[in-house]
Amino acid sequence: MQEARTGFSSKIGFIAAAAGSAVGLGNIWKFPFEVGESGGAAFVIIYLIFCFTLCFPLMVAEIAIGRKTQRNPVGAFTVLGHGKWSFIGKMGLFSCILILSFYNVVAGWCFGYLVEILLGNFSIGEQFPLFVKDIIKVGGYSVIFMATTAYIVSKGISKGVEKAAKLLMPILFFIIILLAAYAMTLPGAAEAVEFYLLPDFSKITGKVVYNALGHAFFSLSLGMGAMITYGSYVSKEDNIISSAVAITLLDVGIAFLAGLMLFPIVISQGLDTHGGAGLVFMSLPRVFGDMGTVLGTVVGTLFFLLLSFAALTSTVSILEIPVSYLVDERAMKRPKAVWLVAGGIFLLGIPSLLSNGYSSFFTQFVTYFGASGPTDFMTLISDVASNSFLPLGGFLIALFVAFIWRKEKLFKEISNGEKGHPNRFISKFLGFSITYLCPWILGAVFILNVLDKFFGVTIY
Ligand code: TRP
Repeated sequence: MQEARTGFSSKIGFIAAAAGSAVGLGNIWKFPFEVGESGGAAFVIIYLIFCFTLCFPLMVAEIAIGRKTQRNPVGAFTVLGHGKWSFIGKMGLFSCILILSFYNVVAGWCFGYLVEILLGNFSIGEQFPLFVKDIIKVGGYSVIFMATTAYIVSKGISKGVEKAAKLLMPILFFIIILLAAYAMTLPGAAEAVEFYLLPDFSKITGKVVYNALGHAFFSLSLGMGAMITYGSYVSKEDNIISSAVAITLLDVGIAFLAGLMLFPIVISQGLDTHGGAGLVFMSLPRVFGDMGTVLGTVVGTLFFLLLSFAALTSTVSILEIPVSYLVDERAMKRPKAVWLVAGGIFLLGIPSLLSNGYSSFFTQFVTYFGASGPTDFMTLISDVASNSFLPLGGFLIALFVAFIWRKEKLFKEISNGEKGHPNRFISKFLGFSITYLCPWILGAVFILNVLDKFFGVTIY
């Protein structure tokens, strides 16, 4: 085995970076609109159940695999399970390339909006369809975003990733609390909280369940080795369980606050909570404009700064995965690996960039079975990656830990950082979840989702 590599300088640094990975556009942009589309609190409850019963144990497993092997995902599965298991890591690499390719486009929009609002252009919401079609402008913003990501990753773990997370995460936390507190003073707040927190279980369909699961994976950065990669830089003395608890709670807490912040704003303006993806990009700028120039500029700028920071700590974690692979397995120098991968993924993101109106081919790319209209390329990739690949990755990781690596070895790695063994209740729960819950539930949901979306067979 390799020597312990230099990594995070402290446990707090690791938690900040991993929470930075988890907290992203998924929490602030996607979560509220999934909640809006899937009928409010019932979605939230299913999402929380998945987070704690399936995702938390898998997060512990991913971090432990990384720390044990001190490798990137491909190397990690090779070390623990011989070459043939490296396909799980390779699948992870493939998913992370897909995810970063479209994620960076949306991150570019956020950054672009930050600039527009700062310049007082509140009508940007109405111009959204034109804005996303203006590929030179949007392409430019995404280039800047990818380059910033690459710069941070090129500085390495403690001087780049950790330093950025320790700076950005507290600011992010502060902004979201400020904005949520402000939202609670608005006239629609009570109604918004009711919509958000009173469940209507009649809204729960199979589709809502797949989406909640896919979203839980996406939001916690699981199923493709991001946590394996960050785990490989964690000190042997750190307690993995308490770190994973902190990361999960921060992620869930921030998604929750994002809803508390957005719904009152949306409802107080009489807007529809089913606003879809446009909620943030189309409705909000007008709301900021209605607040008056000064307040609107302040609140709007803070909001898009929040989104941009959240996205940045996530893109950093995604880029780190293929980079660590090239550095570990291909002996490439970090800076070269970073710029090569960042450039390549940017190019792969061009179809997503074009799929929001510029090119009708990519804008109306596929029609799912049973869907009323065609779906654009970017939505397809995001759907396939988060609702299919991530749960599939989680399924394979659980099977691998349960039947190849074995849970005793997992516990041994976990207890490295604790005095004695991990708490009995926690290890029972982890073992049960990884051996039974994860494989069965993730396997079943994956198959049902594929049958539904691509073969038109719906079994609920
Ligand atoms: N979790 C991030 C979000 O909510 C996105 C993300 C970062 C991600 N790293 C990941 C998703 C790894 C899946 C896997 O926006």
